[in-house]
Amino acid sequence: MLLGNHPETSLAQPSAAQPTKPFLRVLRGQTVDPPPVWLMRQAGRYLPEYRALRAKAPDFLGLCYTPELAAEITLQPVRRFAMDAAILFSDILVVPHALGLGVEFREGEGPVVERLGPGSALARLEPGGVAARLGPVYEAVGRVRDALDGETALIGFAGAPWTVATYMVEGGTSRDFAAVKGWMYTRPDEFAALIDILVEATVHHLVAQARAGAEALQIFDSWAGVLPEEEFGRWCVEPVRRVVAGVKSEFPSLPIIGFPRQAGLSYRAFAERSGVDCVGLDTTVPVEWAARELQAGWAVQGNLDPVVLVVGGPAMVSEARRIKAALAGGPFIFNLGHGVLPKTPPEHVAELVSVVRAGPGGG
Ligand code: CP3
Repeated sequence: MLLGNHPETSLAQPSAAQPTKPFLRVLRGQTVDPPPVWLMRQAGRYLPEYRALRAKAPDFLGLCYTPELAAEITLQPVRRFAMDAAILFSDILVVPHALGLGVEFREGEGPVVERLGPGSALARLEPGGVAARLGPVYEAVGRVRDALDGETALIGFAGAPWTVATYMVEGGTSRDFAAVKGWMYTRPDEFAALIDILVEATVHHLVAQARAGAEALQIFDSWAGVLPEEEFGRWCVEPVRRVVAGVKSEFPSLPIIGFPRQAGLSYRAFAERSGVDCVGLDTTVPVEWAARELQAGWAVQGNLDPVVLVVGGPAMVSEARRIKAALAGGPFIFNLGHGVLPKTPPEHVAELVSVVRAGPGGG
């Protein structure tokens, strides 16, 4: 295996076995009080300093592919709120973009992806594209890692194959997922070939981030919850399991967080079968259930409603304390149940972090 700039992320190094960063200790199964905290989408439009940089850049992907800017945006929320972890500023759609599909982010419209349909040649995808095109993303990882102190961990990430496939087949965000499910139900073997390409590209993308200095990885399966049970096993759990196994064959001790959003009753099966170290809980997962059913085997992360963070005030304080109290008995990372919303007042984030870090009665 090639050693990257940061060989301490590999198993052979004692520092990986005995991490001191609170976030990494939880991912190794330790109970840490107060719990470490970071927020999905902590870098982004709710921060004026992000909007200022975004206004100067030609487009969103241009920001992702400019290492100085991507690193700077990654660090913005860490500086402002002293989060326990930084998450690389990038997007799950850099993978389809690297595979050769057009990807655009239009203001107020969400992402627009060049559509891939059943029967259309999967051969037009360029599997070597991740290695060839995503170098600037890995350079950003290295820059962030060099800038972080000894307390703050760096998270790399990718979309899960199923969720990324939904964007490639639907051409963007979908209401009913009719196109991608239609392909999946009518030509499962051909759809499996698309998923195989994505599994391979995702392993490559995550391993490259680990080599560049990412200390933990998160796999976002944001649309896991739209699949019936059997399909959930085949198209969510199984590809994520292969991605985790592929990454762990290169970085056996690198912790991986899986986020099978809205998987409901299938959360436990996901935890058992995917091989992840930590399960990201969406807002709907009952925290007492997670404490009972998941925390003995896995670290958990979540799950404040992002709208409660927009609302702020007493509702936010009591919800944050409730979640923290329910999950305090095992390995737990405080987070939202989905990403920070653009209309979130940054002061609410600062207050949330102080509530999480205060003692049980304080805040
Ligand atoms: O969490 C972070 O701060 C790191 C950066 C990050 C972004 N996207 C930046 C971004 C991460 C981890 C993502 C993940 C992502 N991207 C997911 C999985 C998480 C989830 O929210 O379910 C998904 C599904 C995407 C795809 C995507 N990218 C959508 C649907 C959109 C448009 C809607 C939206 O929320 O903006 C994006 C654009 C995007 N990704 C922005 C940012 C900061 C906004 C772009 C802009 O500035 O115009």
